[in-house]
Amino acid sequence: MRQQPSRRTIQRILSPNLLLTGGMVLFVIALAYMGASARDQLNPAPLAALPAVPGPSDDPLTPAKITLGKLLYFDPRLSGDGSLSCASCHDPKLGWGDGGDLSRGYPGTLHWRNSQTILNAAYLDRFFWTGSSPDLPAQAKAAITGPLAQNMNPALMEERLKQIPAYVGLFQQTYGGPPTFENALRAISAFERTIVSKNVPFDRYMKGDKMALTPLQVKGLTLFEGKAGCVQCHNGPLFTDQKLYNLGVPKNPAFDQDPQRQIAMRERMRAKGIHEAVIRALDRDPGHYLDTKREEDKGSFRTAPLRELRYTAPYMHNGVFFSLEEVIHFYDRGGGDDPFGTKSSLIRPLQLTAEEKAALVAFLESLSGDQILVDTPELPEYEVLPLPFAGAVR
Ligand code: HEC
Ligand code: HEC
Repeated sequence: MRQQPSRRTIQRILSPNLLLTGGMVLFVIALAYMGASARDQLNPAPLAALPAVPGPSDDPLTPAKITLGKLLYFDPRLSGDGSLSCASCHDPKLGWGDGGDLSRGYPGTLHWRNSQTILNAAYLDRFFWTGSSPDLPAQAKAAITGPLAQNMNPALMEERLKQIPAYVGLFQQTYGGPPTFENALRAISAFERTIVSKNVPFDRYMKGDKMALTPLQVKGLTLFEGKAGCVQCHNGPLFTDQKLYNLGVPKNPAFDQDPQRQIAMRERMRAKGIHEAVIRALDRDPGHYLDTKREEDKGSFRTAPLRELRYTAPYMHNGVFFSLEEVIHFYDRGGGDDPFGTKSSLIRPLQLTAEEKAALVAFLESLSGDQILVDTPELPEYEVLPLPFAGAVR
């Protein structure tokens, strides 16, 4: 794949601007323009069956680690008030999300974005709707400490875990020491790496079973890679390039009408250092702008993976679409209104016929496999430790 100059390189070229003559400025502007349109036109990675889960070589999966991670995933003692576990918002029975359009929040708060599925998260390189977190442990840390999710203090969490003998034993067995916050994050990530798609018709098709897709689904695949242009962003085995685009996704009225969700978004914006005047002028989620504060990132979100959509409705960062038909209709009319002026040039009216729309929906359905469920584990109990603590707390 040919490397195009990134915006950052261009900014680096631009910074010693004292040296630039007017002509060079024009040249650099032209380069920037080419860079932007080239960014939108890179060759898509081929669609593919899901490979084996990649794992960090320094932290191999072991049965004990997965057992520990699963317990922690379901344990509400990892939240400040002991009421919320990861599973509260990423429930196996609700497609490993929470089933709502906008997520619940830590008691007393409500989230302003949709709770994402953790199915196949192990394959991602950037997490959250704007890709703001680099790996699973960092993501879990953000969830546990975040005021809208588990609102937990790491030191307090370690003391809680040390008061549960079964955890002390499992941490000793897996990491050779007492419970620590960092190792808890690694164990949760290990468990998440086991929650992956199974028996997906599209994967069987790609591996040679040409009967795995219906003729309508095959037609949908052709449209996906052709006329409808979906593959430009939704590509590779996970159907995402993990890049950021503004599609003009409409607002969710539930956000406009809910003080708690508005408070939550403002709190996040202040925490990220967004200027007061910008916060006051916003009537919707500014997306990736929150991470970069660059105008061109306003309204951009990470291309969503398209596997297991059967279990993960509603769709988009704000859960504004309840069915795949609505999503296809949205793309067919060329996306939505864009108050930010940053909409991707790849989003344009598609002029799909009713049959073509049905074919695309049918194809998307072929990307869902068996429902992935796990038993809710029985959680180990706290124990009163003998006083004084010497010798008891490891
Ligand atoms: C109160 C609800 C809530 C709790 C509790 C919660 N999450 Fe989340 N989770 C969310 C929401 C909402 C998002 C999307 C937030 C965003 O993009 O800003 C998210 C995103 C994620 C993602 C990103 C998936 C992707 O496609 O990038 C992962 C992974 C995840 N959560 C795992 C966890 C884990 C592990 C825990 C427990 C340690 C946890 N979550 C606790 C609500 C929650
Ligand atoms: C310009 C890049 C781009 C193109 C082209 C594109 N998408 Fe998307 N898609 C995205 C982004 C970005 C999101 C997440 C948007 C958000 O949450 O606001 C998304 C979200 C989705 C979702 C919601 C998934 C979920 O879990 O919420 C579906 C379904 C989807 N796209 C299907 C398609 C189909 C079908 C096509 C072709 C008709 C298509 N996309 C074309 C970038 C693109």
